Amino acid sequence: MMLPERVRIVEVGPRDGLQNEQGQVRAEDKVALVDALVAAGLEHVEVGSFVSPHWVPQMADSAVVFAAIERAPGVTYAALTPNLQGFEAAIAAGASEVAVFAAASESFSQRNINCSIAQSLQRFEPVLAAAVAQGIKVRGYVSCVLGCPYEGDVAPERVRDVADAMLQMGCYELSLGDTLGIGTPGAARRLIDTVAQRVPRGQLAGHFHDTYGQAVANIYACLLEGVQVFDSSVAGLGGCPYAPGASGNVATEDVLYLLHGLGISTGVDLDRVVQAGQAIMLALGRQSASRVARARSGAAGAR
Ligand code: HMG
Ligand code: MG
Repeated sequence: MMLPERVRIVEVGPRDGLQNEQGQVRAEDKVALVDALVAAGLEHVEVGSFVSPHWVPQMADSAVVFAAIERAPGVTYAALTPNLQGFEAAIAAGASEVAVFAAASESFSQRNINCSIAQSLQRFEPVLAAAVAQGIKVRGYVSCVLGCPYEGDVAPERVRDVADAMLQMGCYELSLGDTLGIGTPGAARRLIDTVAQRVPRGQLAGHFHDTYGQAVANIYACLLEGVQVFDSSVAGLGGCPYAPGASGNVATEDVLYLLHGLGISTGVDLDRVVQAGQAIMLALGRQSASRVARARSGAAGAR
């Protein structure tokens, strides 16, 4: 299969990245991050989530963040919503798109959203209905697609069936998440091949975590399978509160370096993403997890 000429990056750092931070990140730092990412050319940014503040306290100020960001034309400012209550709050806050999320494993579904996979799909139905009525696009996530922290291996057919159910419900794109970051490229290719039996490749996105250092290789494998949309997180922020031991999402900087190196355009300025990552890591008081950002800042320091 030929490589695509262009890839769309969905930047999930402000939500999937920051949701796992232990110390409260200031709303102004979140706002500055979103604005810097959009200024770098990212056209789809997941700004926050409207979930229970008891479950994920870090995202409790998402409405404040949505109210303060600058809005650039043509940019999607997305929000994660687990149910109708979250959907209504996201729309009131001015989200331009929402995402619902299910798991390919029952145990993870219970731990993450306190219900079975079937119940979660039922909860999404009113969200999809309300979204259609208001002309709002809904993206779907399936997590634990290459393994579950509680159940181990996950059959690609289970991922296919959950993704297909969400497609039938009206999700325009299905993001397949290796939440644990344990997948390898052969497994990633088999997964895409299986899910594509029901969901067209043009409606699939890859969402990789880098726990075992395989994320960039997995993205390359998915490119070869015809996937043209990838989620990533500036500075490699993230980890999931319900996936113990999982490290961050693949870093946006590392994905851009891979794609640009392959001659694939993204419309995103790598140097400006590196700068955005440096600013948020300064606020968090830690070093970036992005190999590319670390290499770039080392080079800058030596000049
Ligand atoms: P529950 O406790 O079973 O819900 O939580 P409930 O319906 O019984 O409600 C309990 C309380 O939560 C009530 O408040 C509700 O009002 C409130 P109380 O009466 O006790 O004061 N509540 C809400 N509050 C704010 N916003 C809402 C909302 N809904 C109910 N939307 C629920 C069920 C789904 C709400 C909960 O489990 C939850 O919020 N879970 C979210 C967990 C989460 O955000 N996880 C991280 C995202 S998933 C992820 O990171 C993976 C992904 O990134 C892909 C990957 O990385 O691979 C997508
Ligand atoms: Mg993630």
